[in-house]
Amino acid sequence: MKITVVGTGYVGLVSGACFADVGIEVVCVDIDQKKIDKLKNGIMPIYEPGLEEIVVRNYESGRLSFSTNLGEAIQDSEVAFIAVGTPPGEDGSADLKYVLAVADEIGKTMSDYIVVATKSTVPVTTGCKVKEAIQNALDKRKSDLPFAVASNPEFLKEGAAVEDFLKPDRIVIGVEEERAEEIMRRLYKPFQLSGDRIIYMDIPSAEMTKYTANAMLATKISFMNDIANLCELVGADANMVRAGIGSDPRIGNKFIYPGVGYGGSCFPKDVKAIIRTAKTYGYDLRVLQSVEAVNEDQKHTLVKKVKKHFGDDLSGMTFAMWGLSFKPNTDDMREAPAIVMINELRAAGAKVKAYDPIAMEEAKEVYVGDKVTYCDDAYDACVDADALLLVTEWSEFRMPSWSALGKLLTNKVVFDGRNIYDRKYLKEMGFEHYGIGI
Ligand code: UDX
Repeated sequence: MKITVVGTGYVGLVSGACFADVGIEVVCVDIDQKKIDKLKNGIMPIYEPGLEEIVVRNYESGRLSFSTNLGEAIQDSEVAFIAVGTPPGEDGSADLKYVLAVADEIGKTMSDYIVVATKSTVPVTTGCKVKEAIQNALDKRKSDLPFAVASNPEFLKEGAAVEDFLKPDRIVIGVEEERAEEIMRRLYKPFQLSGDRIIYMDIPSAEMTKYTANAMLATKISFMNDIANLCELVGADANMVRAGIGSDPRIGNKFIYPGVGYGGSCFPKDVKAIIRTAKTYGYDLRVLQSVEAVNEDQKHTLVKKVKKHFGDDLSGMTFAMWGLSFKPNTDDMREAPAIVMINELRAAGAKVKAYDPIAMEEAKEVYVGDKVTYCDDAYDACVDADALLLVTEWSEFRMPSWSALGKLLTNKVVFDGRNIYDRKYLKEMGFEHYGIGI
């Protein structure tokens, strides 16, 4: 079986490499020649555990290839996945120009039946628009070639993308005809999912499923952040409350960790986009509007605590920041709460010394620039700093030497944005500890 994957971002590259790894012939296509050249040389555009190995292995075996020529790639492909970006437009809705340009190109160049499946997170009704774009291009050629559209949203998590793709919880496939369903069934067969974990449905439902999943997860986080803030006021411990409610299987113990707010490429964008979609249908998604508002506020929580401790004017002070990426095991800085915190600390007159195991290059190049001093390691960031802010819970930050830190920091104060430290122990070590909801 041969397939084409268009777009070599997170979703496209991981999907392409993983499909190749189970024996499928995959061509990954991107318009960015530089990116394609780098991939051919084993240079990954993103940091993702296990990705390089799987890409290089399959490229060397010939099952995975890279190209900028979409028309050539889709010849003999049974499926073409569209996995290009859907950046948010100014009004929060997803911009479909890249998706539709790919659909148009497929219509212009296809020479046989093909299933065109969207893998990017696309708003409901995109399936129809993709179909229309392909049909228009075919009409211009005066061609009556048959094709099908499908929606196959991707649920992988950054930092665990390869693992998630190879061992998915479930696969959602929106299709409207049997021939396409049969092809998708064959494609996913090697992943040996039991029948009930491949869920077939109509295309709008598949598109809605993706947004609903991300919106529900974002809701859990904002809900817990809201509750954590109340816990602080009433003298309760949000960690205890979390453990207490998480043991109810109807609630579950995952995704209820209070913190500095969610970031990343999916939750902020998808919550905005679904609110926007609802608005165009004259409906107000009130819960999600609050989810978004709570999240925006939550990004300020840690610096508020800093100001409560040191006063609003932080001029002349320096803060160590551990972690910049929006979560561990990724260099992704998109919508990272660290960016908001850095700006806020600087606006109050403070300097920031930052360390992140992977994301410093990305932060410096695109998101933070020279607003902070980048440090060689976690301890280096603390030299003569007035306090430590833990922003991203990378493993290497979990058990630092507090006695060493005590000597480096000017004040023994820790602002723990992810509740990873034991307050009692820190107190014994002479540290003051601030957490979220505790
Ligand atoms: C998410 C979804 O999990 C994934 O299924 C979808 O395909 C894409 O969006 P990702 O953006 O990679 O994946 O990150 P995820 O691990 O879900 O974390 C999102 C954010 O929520 C992070 O900023 C994280 O720190 C935060 N979070 C997560 C919390 O604050 N508390 C939690 O309990 C869990």
